[in-house]
Parts: sequence; C-alpha cells; structure tokens
Amino acid sequence: MGKLTVVEHPLIAHKMSILRDEKTPVKEFRELIGEIALLMTAEVTKDLPLKKHMVKTPIAETEGALIERQVALVPILRAGLGIVDALMKIIPAAKIGHVGLYRDPETHKPVEYYCKLPTDIEQRQVIVLDPMLATGGSAAAAIDFIKQRGATKIKLMCIVGAPQGVKAVQEAHPDVDIYLASLDEGLNDHAYIVPGLGDAGDRLFGTM
Ligand code: PRP
Ligand code: URA
Repeated sequence: MGKLTVVEHPLIAHKMSILRDEKTPVKEFRELIGEIALLMTAEVTKDLPLKKHMVKTPIAETEGALIERQVALVPILRAGLGIVDALMKIIPAAKIGHVGLYRDPETHKPVEYYCKLPTDIEQRQVIVLDPMLATGGSAAAAIDFIKQRGATKIKLMCIVGAPQGVKAVQEAHPDVDIYLASLDEGLNDHAYIVPGLGDAGDRLFGTM
C-alpha cells in the first residue's frame, strides 16, 4: 500500500488558509500554490538516492553527495502547471513531462487529451503534480499512462486531497506514495473537495 504523508508545517498551514479563501485573487493564489509546493518538496524528495562525490573546497578535499536518480516532474494539465515552476527552481536538472486530462463534467471521469514524457522516464524518479486529488480518477489515469511508458518509480504530490481520492490511488497504484499539504473531509455532490479551495485550474488561470 502506498504511503500517505500529509506534510505539516506552520508556514503550510498559514498559506493554506489564505489559499482556500474565496477572496484570494489569482496572482496571490498562484504564488501560494508554488510556495506550498516548495515547502513540501523537501519531504517528497527525502529518499532520493545519492552517490558519493568528492569535492575540493578552497581549504580541503571532502566527501559530498550528488543526486543519483534524476527526477521527472509530470504536471497533470492544466492545474498541475501551477506547481511545476516552483519545483523546477529547486530541482533544475529535472525533465518535465505533461499529461493532459480533464474531468468530464457529467461523469466526473478523466478524459485524456495529451501525453508527452521524457524518453528516459524509466530511469527517473517521477513526481506527478496536481493541486487537487478529489475522486482520484485523474491521478490514477495519469499514473497509468506514465507506467505504460516504462516508469517504475512514481510519487504523487497534491496540495489538497479527499480520503476517496487517496483510497482510489492507493488501490489502483499500491506502489505510489502520496503527499498532500491537507487531507480534507470529503467530496460534495459535484465531486468537489470539501472544504477544498474550489476549482484549482480556474483559480490559477483566472477562468472563473
Ligand atoms: C481538476 C484537478 C485534477 C482533477 C481532480 O482538473 O486539477 O486534475 O480535477 O479530480 P479527480 O481526482 O476527481 O479526478 P480538471 O478536470 O478540473 O481540469 P483542469 O485542470 O483543466 O481545470
Ligand atoms: N478539481 C478541482 O479543481 N477542485 C476540486 O475540488 C475537485 C476537482
């Protein structure tokens, strides 16, 4: 069973409260998504394997370390784009893939419209990015596509999740660990997260 980690930190709690506020404007919403994602990144990447690397400082030679398994960041379009910029700043060697999915408004089931991944995806630690984990349909489908293209090491990083989405991903992909900034109460009749923050894509891109 994939592990669920809710990353707890006072800065995340503070920023989450502003993010959820319906009055928070697009610019601030976008900045907060990036900042929260950045605060989560240390935890999400905590177990990246290292290789020994000798380094000569101006004073002496010493043993250092470099990341051994490189990272692929895969935002789920479109809301996942709100996270990827922040992570690229701190993991500049990461390659970026894109999976395009939207939820059918009637069925709430994911519909794929785009998938382009780094060709060496099977050698990389993949981090799938999406602010929202609601029913889990989109994340589970995105992970399916990524696995079909050979990836074996995959983590899912979201900002807000519902218990239903966590369960769906854990059942579909028991090898994938999930990271959230908040585990919310559940879903409403339209499969929106409660209390959540509304439609993340609309709030990021101003399409309300
Ligand atoms: C949102 C969100 C997730 C998905 C979560 O995307 O960004 O991808 O819904 O819901 P689920 O867990 O029930 O699948 P949406 O379909 O609204 O598309 P968008 O990012 O283009 O707005
Ligand atoms: N997608 C969103 O953007 N928000 C939700 O609450 C659920 C799915």
